[in-house]
Amino acid sequence: MDELKRIIRDVPDFPKKGIVFKDITTLLADGRNFQRMIDLMAHRYLGQGIQKVVGVEARGFILGSALAYKLGTGIALVRKPGKLPWKTLRKTYELEYGTDTLEIHIDAFEPGEKVLIADDLLATGGTVAAVVDLVQQLQAEIVECAFLAELEFLQGRKRLPEGKVHSLLQF
Ligand code: PRP
Ligand code: ADE
Repeated sequence: MDELKRIIRDVPDFPKKGIVFKDITTLLADGRNFQRMIDLMAHRYLGQGIQKVVGVEARGFILGSALAYKLGTGIALVRKPGKLPWKTLRKTYELEYGTDTLEIHIDAFEPGEKVLIADDLLATGGTVAAVVDLVQQLQAEIVECAFLAELEFLQGRKRLPEGKVHSLLQF
């Protein structure tokens, strides 16, 4: 785990002064560690009856696709506004460094479908709290929200359903 943590690069003052950005491109570029990351994350959910992964644009698509492949599920896309072609639900939320809006297709799930929400990083929790709201409005069942990394000092998990948050790495 320490090797995975060490390979993530800290970029100070990106995208704004005072933010230390966790740059996962250094991990994604390393085949052995990329595979380890996905294997470790997927292991927790094998046999849990997950029926769909929800991937959050943009970096969540990378993790979400690889996890869906390992779990043998489909993936539903949560995207920035104006990107999804069919009818959508949308939600505006606050980020560590601004505000943003996310959308999902209204027919992304069957009612009661068991889903795993995947993203690379949990910071303030605003992004995935918005995703949780969208998924719940569409009446899917959230098994867990899975993150590669969590910035614990920002206490983002307090904004997410209790007991349904897991991160592989903590900073
Ligand atoms: C980053 C990250 C998470 C979110 C976490 O995405 O990938 O989705 O911020 O922050 P939060 O917990 O404070 O909401 P970003 O919005 O920078 O978009 P990107 O993946 O398209 O770069
Ligand atoms: N998303 C929100 N805060 C972030 C951070 N510090 N590093 C990477 N992604 C982020």
